[in-house]
Amino acid sequence: MLPKQVEFVRDVRTRHLLYSGAFAAGKSRTLCWKLRMRAEKPGAVEMLCRKTLESLKKSTLRTLLEPDGELPPILEPGTYTHNKSEKTIKIHGGGEILYFGLDDPAKLGSVNATGCAIDELVDCTEADYTMLKGRVRMKVPGLPHQFYSACNPGPPSHWVATAWGLDPGGSPMGDNYRVIQASALENVFLSDDYLADLEQLTGVAYERYVLGKWVGSDGLIFDGFQRDTHVTSERLPAVEYRYCVDPGYTDPFAIYEREVDQDGRVHTSREFYQPGVTHADAIDVLREMMHDRTCPLVVDSAEPAFIEECQRAGFAVKGARKGPDSILSGIQLMQQRLRDPGDGKPRWTINPACPNLIREMESYEWARSNDGLKEKPVDANNHGIDANRYDFAELDGGTPFVFVSAGEGDRAGRKERSSMSIAEIRDADPEWGWD
Ligand SMILES: Nc1ncnc2c1ncn2[C@@H]1O[C@H](COP(=O)(O)OP(=O)(O)OP(=O)(O)O)[C@@H](O)[C@H]1O
Ligand SMILES: [Mg+2]
Repeated sequence: MLPKQVEFVRDVRTRHLLYSGAFAAGKSRTLCWKLRMRAEKPGAVEMLCRKTLESLKKSTLRTLLEPDGELPPILEPGTYTHNKSEKTIKIHGGGEILYFGLDDPAKLGSVNATGCAIDELVDCTEADYTMLKGRVRMKVPGLPHQFYSACNPGPPSHWVATAWGLDPGGSPMGDNYRVIQASALENVFLSDDYLADLEQLTGVAYERYVLGKWVGSDGLIFDGFQRDTHVTSERLPAVEYRYCVDPGYTDPFAIYEREVDQDGRVHTSREFYQPGVTHADAIDVLREMMHDRTCPLVVDSAEPAFIEECQRAGFAVKGARKGPDSILSGIQLMQQRLRDPGDGKPRWTINPACPNLIREMESYEWARSNDGLKEKPVDANNHGIDANRYDFAELDGGTPFVFVSAGEGDRAGRKERSSMSIAEIRDADPEWGWD
């Protein structure tokens, strides 16, 4: 184990222990080691969770139960019994592990546990953490209650930063809060290729995801984005399902589902975000994700080959509107959507099931020049953002067009105009003040 991993596993006393670190800093592996050591104690009931059950199964549970390249799983096969329907793992001769996603905490009911492991704590709300605290009551001699978590850094305004004193000038809430911080560069087991890829990150993303720091930036593009307000599992009563795609191969292929309610509010509800995906695989993902083939689908118009494949699959696909300044105008549409319209309900929310989009929203930055910030974003941390931007250009990007006069005399003119496209109306009346 890496020295900081040893520190984390050895600290058996601190009640609220956090391993905070960069991408691939060895967080999940350490968390699983500690979980194993505690759960081996007869009588132990240790909870293991993440914001969503799906993300837990895809990542942490794999580290616990499956080999990772040449590395063996943390729990050796044959030493436990796994009941998948009850989501329990009983260690032979020891205690048990209950695992779940915080997207379905109702199942917890009256669980009485000895400790709790949480992966990617940064995705959880303070209310989630408080709820978990209420479930750790069972006493087993020699096994002090412990909440041990791992996570990537987030912005310094995040509740985790406040609680563990990670914001600038901050201090932990008390002696029972301790954080161990690790950078990706400390993980000597990572390949040079992987580290070289990480070195490509810049700005706030480099500081957070390579160095592992809880930093903010005065150049953040979505500085109005707040997890408390904009990230919610609350679904909208959807009247329309929409899909948007930013294709990639070396970069992640980013696919999103978006729900629109009758007031036009948008909730980005599902995410697929993965590099190395072929067009055929992406079509399969869309087939699985889409409510039906007639739902609107917007794809980067610079990807005609993929658009053609979507057409062949029978999807109602459109190339995203692009033009001069389309990035800037799209960003403005998104910033407007994030604003509180006065009723406390922003017109765009994101589901916690979209962690990569949330991460991008918190790290997408304006480029810098010697004399300050440029009116141009850094071309990084923008795959999920671009996909969502394409769809906002469709939804909100049309020239706002309102016929003010409703008088009798205008009726004929209105009828004539309503059969024209916006471009035709624009050509017919270039002086109207379109911009
Ligand atoms: N003690 C170790 N011995 C050998 N390899 C390790 C060790 N710890 C971590 N690794 C390697 O580093 C990789 C990253 O580890 P891990 O998944 O625990 O990191 P993470 O910080 O949770 O990453 P992410 O940011 O993706 O959640 C693993 O795939 C594993 O190959
Ligand atoms: Mg991890």
